[in-house]
Amino acid sequence: MGQLENLYNEAREYLVGGASAGQRYHKILGQPLYLDHADGCRLYDVDGNSYIDYHGCAGAALYGYNHPRLKAAVDKAVEKGFFMNFDTKYHVELAKLFREFFPSAEKVRLCNTGSEATQGAVRLARAYTGKDIIIRFDGHFHGMHELVWYNHNMTAPMDEYGEVETTPDCPGFASSAKDVVKNVAFNDIDALEHAVEKYKDQVAAIILEPISFNCGCLVSSREYLEKVRKICDREGIVLIFDEVISGLRMRPGSAQLYYGVTPDLTTAAKAIGGGFSIAALLGKDKFMQKLNPLGSTIMSGTYSGALMPVLAAIECLKMAKEPEFYDHIDGIAEALYGGMNDLFRKHGIKGHVRGVGARFAIYFGVENPEDDYDFRKVAGQMDAETYTKFTRECLTHGLFFHDTAGATSPAHYGFNIQHTMKDIEITLDSIDRIFGRIK
Ligand SMILES: Cc1ncc(COP(=O)(O)O)c(C=O)c1O
Repeated sequence: MGQLENLYNEAREYLVGGASAGQRYHKILGQPLYLDHADGCRLYDVDGNSYIDYHGCAGAALYGYNHPRLKAAVDKAVEKGFFMNFDTKYHVELAKLFREFFPSAEKVRLCNTGSEATQGAVRLARAYTGKDIIIRFDGHFHGMHELVWYNHNMTAPMDEYGEVETTPDCPGFASSAKDVVKNVAFNDIDALEHAVEKYKDQVAAIILEPISFNCGCLVSSREYLEKVRKICDREGIVLIFDEVISGLRMRPGSAQLYYGVTPDLTTAAKAIGGGFSIAALLGKDKFMQKLNPLGSTIMSGTYSGALMPVLAAIECLKMAKEPEFYDHIDGIAEALYGGMNDLFRKHGIKGHVRGVGARFAIYFGVENPEDDYDFRKVAGQMDAETYTKFTRECLTHGLFFHDTAGATSPAHYGFNIQHTMKDIEITLDSIDRIFGRIK
């Protein structure tokens, strides 16, 4: 029995299911992957196996592991006393940097996780408008709390107007919580218009992932987002872009810059901290003024803006400003996604890869459509058997793709800025062999 299995047996005595977070369980592996350490773009497990990482800590590890500039940021925080619950000049420096990537960031409020940020955004929108209803989109994900966690990993019944029955993703929510959350088809402006009319004068906010990596890699269009923006302006609804994954992920650094559409509020997390626990609610001044200490809407926490993640985030944002940063991401993306799509064709396996910047999805069983993606259509075509074989073979070929078995949409994967062209070459050679075995 290897250390991986031993540790699992011991862990199960103390941690629920042997994992400190439920989603860490890798169903195909039959347990979590326990690491000894990680470096660059590689993970090293407790049995001494190494893997080129394509999980990227669910998107948090855009800067890879052991990055010297992030290590230096940690050292600086240690030297300064690694305190929290106080602000510094570094907090101001970080807030200034946010504005360069997120035009909506007239003001910044820090927190620790994406879920906290979306919770704050919804609360602020309700406080500002005095209305209750939140409109969200079918398949999108905004964190695991009952203000927003509906209709992610499922295809609930949809009516003829594109409104989908609001259904919690998890038991334990108050049964009335879903009454103030409405769920509509994404990329369908008529569906949104219909819902806004139906719930006229009751809608506080529309929240969306401008690029939904939680639906695999479901992009939107500038035209659609511009129309959503207009609806919000017309109806006095707060527009929230959830950029927890898309933030910093691709040139020019956020989806709002990429599409040229500015929301009222933005939530950011994951890549902005390079693996340290930091998130942010970014917003236009007139909304953010409602937050304490200026206003009466409270958003605060013991660890909000702790020094270590703040110093790490400053380095992350500074790196993303350097000209070669997105050149490298674009080069790796083209080589990896193009190379994998060639391998799909070479082996005659039905499926394709789709990515934006450093995050992507593998659609086993789904032909590459020319235009937009319908999340529901894709869900119906997914080839779970080939996905499972692929993910299992990757483990023995030194590639790590986290298993989200049973997901309605393909998982989002990613590479980090420490992946090199050589790593992509090794990856594609391995996938060539894997595809040869599983087809
Ligand atoms: C778009 C989006 N929003 C919010 C969250 C929640 O972030 P966290 O896991 O940091 O709470 C996630 C997490 O995956 C996410 O993908």
